[in-house]
Amino acid sequence: MAELTTLEEKLAEVLGLAQAAQKATEKVEGLVDDESIAENLRRMREEAEETERRCTEAADSRNGKKTAILEKAQETKGEATEMMDTYLGDDADGLDGLEFMTMAEAGEVGHWAVLQKLNEQAGEEQIAELTRWALPIQERHLSETKECALQLAGEKDPYEES
Ligand SMILES: [Fe+2]
Repeated sequence: MAELTTLEEKLAEVLGLAQAAQKATEKVEGLVDDESIAENLRRMREEAEETERRCTEAADSRNGKKTAILEKAQETKGEATEMMDTYLGDDADGLDGLEFMTMAEAGEVGHWAVLQKLNEQAGEEQIAELTRWALPIQERHLSETKECALQLAGEKDPYEES
């Protein structure tokens, strides 16, 4: 198996998180009744699909490293999905789901910012373009999931038995 550089490892991680985000948005969509929140989650899933596509394209153009990058991404996806399954048990409701999404999106923002920072030294144009595209989208995902969580929290009866 080809050895990955730090830059490639970070590319694999954002790819794995984009794959995990597709599962997370689908699961959380199943927990919410609010149609506008569900619509939001669907849009996020489409953007996660596009992120996966662009990351895979970037992995494609790295000589002989594609398989190793995809394998590392698979590992990251597995870890993120495990976290989701731990956090969202059978009794999880829509608010729990959106809270999980804020953690997942914050994780994506952090990882994309790290990749962008690493690439300041590397100066690879393809990675620069990818992070310029992805980082604002992840930041929007984080603020949108927080907004949605707060909407659901605002509709909750704080004294209801949970
Ligand atoms: Fe996201």
